[in-house]
Amino acid sequence: MNYPFWDIPFLGSGWVIGIIAIFHVMISQFAVGGGVYLPMAERKALAMKDPEARAAWLAQIASHSKFFLILTGVFGTVSGVGIWFAIGLTHPEATSTLIHNFVFGWAMEWVFFMVELTTIAVYYYTWGKIDEKLHLTVGWVYAVASVFTLVIINGILTFMLTPGDTWLGVAGTGQEASKFWNAFFNPTYWPSLLLRTCVCCALAGIWALITASRIDGDKQPALKTSMVRWSVKWLVPSFVATPFLMIWYLWMVPESQRALLTLGIDTIGSGTFSTVTRIALLIIVTSATIVGVAYYLAYRNPLEFNLSHAIAVLLLALIATGSGEYAREMLRKPFVIGRWMYSNGVRVKDVERINTEGYLARTEWTWRGSASSYSRGEAIFRGQCGSCHTLGGYRPLNELLAGRDRVNIGNFLTMLHEYKPDSPYRRFMPPMVGTKQDVDDLTNFLNAQVNPPAPVAKKPVMTAQK
Ligand code: HEC
Repeated sequence: MNYPFWDIPFLGSGWVIGIIAIFHVMISQFAVGGGVYLPMAERKALAMKDPEARAAWLAQIASHSKFFLILTGVFGTVSGVGIWFAIGLTHPEATSTLIHNFVFGWAMEWVFFMVELTTIAVYYYTWGKIDEKLHLTVGWVYAVASVFTLVIINGILTFMLTPGDTWLGVAGTGQEASKFWNAFFNPTYWPSLLLRTCVCCALAGIWALITASRIDGDKQPALKTSMVRWSVKWLVPSFVATPFLMIWYLWMVPESQRALLTLGIDTIGSGTFSTVTRIALLIIVTSATIVGVAYYLAYRNPLEFNLSHAIAVLLLALIATGSGEYAREMLRKPFVIGRWMYSNGVRVKDVERINTEGYLARTEWTWRGSASSYSRGEAIFRGQCGSCHTLGGYRPLNELLAGRDRVNIGNFLTMLHEYKPDSPYRRFMPPMVGTKQDVDDLTNFLNAQVNPPAPVAKKPVMTAQK
């Protein structure tokens, strides 16, 4: 435990990343899909023969590009920085590993961000001011740059789920950077890239429906009809290819890591791990509803399609995206970097050392030996359990351990500490690491939470009158 722990009561630190990330993913994938949508729409408009339709389309795209610039340039960038703050504070150990491996990757990423932000500003501010062909070229430069941001970040994101055997072979030796490309083009790289590309296209269409829904259908029926219908078509690749890509993606995840997902499906009747199953169902149901709404409300009746319909589609997309990211998180448990580092920052290879020398042995900022068993237990709880559990809020240990006495809690922790190959908890929890003393300290701390000592009864005032 090399870093202090960022304690977020009730919500848990994971949700801080989660909330920022879901919001960010919605916008940044729109930045990619929408980045391609804009020049494609502009090209289509420029090719139109009817001057009126052409002018109307161009005006509409210009207005959409303003919305696009503000949403991606302001909220996309700010939430992106937010993710850095959040992961740096909640997963310092993993963030450090990522930076050491991918510093060059991020350097490339930031070059493309620079190009992106510059060209989208130029694109928006030069509508009608420069030659039409040149303007379209600016749009294409933006599109290429934004696609590259996805191409790069996808390598880093998929690395965390499946670093791959080659990288794992050198991990911890100081030679990790020599396997940069293996880590980058890891087993889930391609299915994930195609999956996210589909999602980007769908989000481009969904966000475009927001601006298209606001076109006055009485005044500009032709524009609204063609714009809404053209935007709906952007959802098609996603709904055709996603199921197949999902299967491919899961196929590439090592069996041991897929266990959690299959656990939910195996036990669908008994309700174990119903969260995972529910999440999977939620993705299917929301996606199907989006298709229904997009086809019947937008494609079939474009003139009646209004802002509330568009926002409903957007919210459904938000739920589907959120569920997708949550499922990916669950798939990665108990690791933050697959088979290399557990969610709580403990490296798989350090488990034995920590079991011998103690969890707090190299911690510079707790009291260690001099502290009480209770406060050592608290530090261990935060460091080892806090990345996934809170005491009384999200995934609360107070409730999960309710009904167990001290001996029982101790037995549970011992089981988590031994981490036998057939332990069911291996599918989603890291081992509890440390010495016998550490297990005792954590037991004392948790027991005091679950079975708080009865408050010393105050003498009621009334008794004096008896
Ligand atoms: C990688 C994330 C992760 C970490 C770290 C983690 N857990 Fe868990 N734990 C889970 C998940 C997921 C569940 C299942 C929760 C559910 O059923 O809602 C769970 C369930 C539990 C349960 C309920 C088990 C049961 O049989 O009902 C207990 C108790 C528990 N954890 C204790 C701990 C303790 C103590 C630590 C720290 C030593 C810890 N966990 C660390 C993810 C984690």
